[in-house]
Amino acid sequence: MPNEPEHACRIILGDEGPLLVQGPVEVTCPDGSVAFSDRFVVAVCLCRRSRIQPWCDTSHRRREKPRRPD
Ligand code: FES
Repeated sequence: MPNEPEHACRIILGDEGPLLVQGPVEVTCPDGSVAFSDRFVVAVCLCRRSRIQPWCDTSHRRREKPRRPD
C-alpha cells in the first residue's frame, strides 16, 4: 500500500468471531483492568461470550446439537 506506515498495527476483521491483532498487544477492558499478550497473533473477543475475556476462547462458534441416529 502506498501510504502504509512502516510500523502499522495489523488488525484482521472477520465476518464473525474475534478481532485478530498482531502481538504483542495490551488491552484495556471496560472495568479498567489491563490484559497483555505477547503472542504473534492475538484473538480479541468481540462477541462477549468468551470466559477468558478479553481473549477469544472460540465460544463465538455456533454449537450444533449432535444428530440423533434414525
Ligand atoms: S469472539 Fe470468540 S469467543 Fe468471542
